[in-house]
Amino acid sequence: MLSWMRRQKELVGLDIGTSSIKAVHLQRLRSSYKIAELGIVPIHPETIVDGIIMDAAAVSAAIRQLFDKNGIALKDVAFSVSGHSVIIKKIKVPTMKTAEFREGIVWEAERHIPYSIEDVNLDFQILRQAEPGEQEMDVLLVAVKKDTLNEYLAVISAAGLNAAVVDVDSFAIENAFTMPQRPQPGEIIALVNVGAAVTNINILYDGISDFTRDSPLGGNRHTESLQRSIGVSFEQAEALKKGEPVDGHSVVEAEAVIEMANSELAGEIRRSFDFYYSTSQRDTIHRMVLSGGCALLSGLAPYLSHALELPVEVANPFQHIVADAKKFDTTYLTGIAPQMTVAVGLALRESEDDAG
Ligand SMILES: Nc1ncnc2c1ncn2[C@@H]1O[C@H](COP(=O)(O)OP(=O)(O)OP(=O)(O)O)[C@@H](O)[C@H]1O
Ligand SMILES: [Mg+2]
Repeated sequence: MLSWMRRQKELVGLDIGTSSIKAVHLQRLRSSYKIAELGIVPIHPETIVDGIIMDAAAVSAAIRQLFDKNGIALKDVAFSVSGHSVIIKKIKVPTMKTAEFREGIVWEAERHIPYSIEDVNLDFQILRQAEPGEQEMDVLLVAVKKDTLNEYLAVISAAGLNAAVVDVDSFAIENAFTMPQRPQPGEIIALVNVGAAVTNINILYDGISDFTRDSPLGGNRHTESLQRSIGVSFEQAEALKKGEPVDGHSVVEAEAVIEMANSELAGEIRRSFDFYYSTSQRDTIHRMVLSGGCALLSGLAPYLSHALELPVEVANPFQHIVADAKKFDTTYLTGIAPQMTVAVGLALRESEDDAG
């Protein structure tokens, strides 16, 4: 088939989070992208726990509802996994020819992955080819536990969809950030995505991932602390976080509790930064881009900026994407933007491959 006749294969970015499921379908324009459809649907906090799907039927029903309600007809999706079923390692391997590489990398992986190779799906990316005369090259190794992957594949297929691309949250976030812009040479940027159950950290150096870590601390900590400290329900705690007073409890009352959880989060991020400094030759992270639902938590961005002593900006993955104001309310889009980062990064996957 002639390449110019090949139908451009579009994908829906599908982010199956533990608090909500998000979907974004982008259409390629001449030099940018346009939102075709998008949506978000909450799920019950016990549906997915610690990245494990507890109620598969509820997840596939929620996905189906999300697609139907927002008129998303496309069936091919890109989805991502995160947390402890994903292992990401940057390793140095002996320089190999492409033909030897596939086999060689499995052998290398066995030494770096704490699970049996039979139990994981393996992927890799050559980050930096060896310079002439060099013996080693930098490779990014990604292993995802098959059990986890199969659970996600099953709910997607039960929702009548086809999983065309599997990704990792941190890399989807990186994709959403780097697609429209190249960071300055030498610039070190921490992409920090604070979700409900997980915080994904991806530190970019020269626009390439230099360090990743998923930490099991997110917005659920704020919610749980509010429930415990002031004796409210899960729903009431969620409302307080959004700045809505609930019967008998003011937003001011919630502030001290939220700040306490912010400080735990800052400590957790600081530990990752310190680990990065001690294992790399770098000593300064220049700025942070904060995404995930918790980026909407008023006060978190300034808190982290103060605590970690670096500029923190809230991510807007729609910044370079066209949206028809008649179809998508601008205020609505702004209000969900940081939370849609993973889904946008996923939606950009296939289009990017088409371009290459
Ligand atoms: N407007 C808001 N103000 C404050 N907090 C918010 C707001 N919107 C969402 N959150 C919080 O963001 C978190 C959900 O973020 P997100 O949707 O990124 O998580 P998720 O993808 O469902 O979960 P995870 O990736 O951790 O599995 C929840 O803790 C929620 O309370
Ligand atoms: Mg998430």
